[in-house]
Amino acid sequence: MTFKNLPRHIAVIMDGNGRWAKKRNLDRIYGHIEGIKSLKSVVEGVIEYKIKYLTVYAFSSENWQRPENEVDSLMELLDEYIELELPYLIKNKIRLNFIGDIGRLPDKSKTAVSKAAEKTKNGGELTLTLALSYGSKEEILNAVSKIAEDVKKGAIEFTDINDKLFSSYLYTAGTPDPDLLIRTSGELRLSNFMLYQTAYAELYFTKTLWPDFRKKNLIAALKNYEKRIRRFGKT
Ligand code: IPE
Ligand code: IPE
Ligand code: MG
Repeated sequence: MTFKNLPRHIAVIMDGNGRWAKKRNLDRIYGHIEGIKSLKSVVEGVIEYKIKYLTVYAFSSENWQRPENEVDSLMELLDEYIELELPYLIKNKIRLNFIGDIGRLPDKSKTAVSKAAEKTKNGGELTLTLALSYGSKEEILNAVSKIAEDVKKGAIEFTDINDKLFSSYLYTAGTPDPDLLIRTSGELRLSNFMLYQTAYAELYFTKTLWPDFRKKNLIAALKNYEKRIRRFGKT
C-alpha cells in the first residue's frame, strides 16, 4: 500500500476497552489487556509507513476518578507494557516519550517511565508518546503560569509570546502538532486531549472499539486522510 500523502504525526484517543469487555461478559481489565495488542499492531503499522510521531492517550487526568482497582490494574499494565516492549522499542529505534502529570503516577510506574525514556532516547525512527495522567487544560494552565513567571523574572519579554513560544512551554514541546487525530468507540469528543495542538488536525472518528482497532483499521484511517484537503484557512 502506498499513499500520496501521509500524516507526520498521528494522535489517538484509544477508547472503548470497557465496552469491548462488557460485550463479552468480561471484567473491564480484559479490554485494557486486549487494547495493548491494538497498540502494538498500530505501532507496527506506523513504523511500516515511516510515520515519525505517534501520540496515544493512555490515561487522562480525569481517569483518576475511576474505581481504585481499575486504576491500579491500568498502572500495572503500563509497567508491564514498558518492561515487555523495551527490547522491541530499542531494536526498532523507537523513542518512548511521556506527557502528562507523571509525578502523580505510583513510584513504580515513575521509575519504569524514566528508565524507558532514558533507554530509548536515541531512537530516531519513531517517537511514541504515551499521554499519562494527561489533561490538556492543565497543560495549558501550566504553560501560562510558567510564561508569567519567566516574564516576571525577565527571562522573556511579554512581546515574545507567540504560538512558537507558547508551544515550547507545553508538554509536547519539540513535537510537531498532530496532522491526524483518531478516536475509536464512536464517541465524538476530545475529552481534554491536546486541545491546543489539534487546532488544525484532521479528525477521524470510528465506531470500532479500541481492542478491535488493528493495523488494517489504521490503513483505513490513512486512506481517509489521504483524501482530505488541508486548506489552513486559504482558498
Ligand atoms: C479507554 O477505554 C481506556 C482508558 C480510558 C484508560 P475505556 O476504559 O474508556 O472504555 P469504555 O469507554 O468504558 O468502553
Ligand atoms: C479518554 O477516554 C481518555 C483515554 C482514552 C485515555 P475516556 O473514556 O476517559 O473519555 P470520556 O470519559 O468518555 O470522555
Ligand atoms: Mg471510555
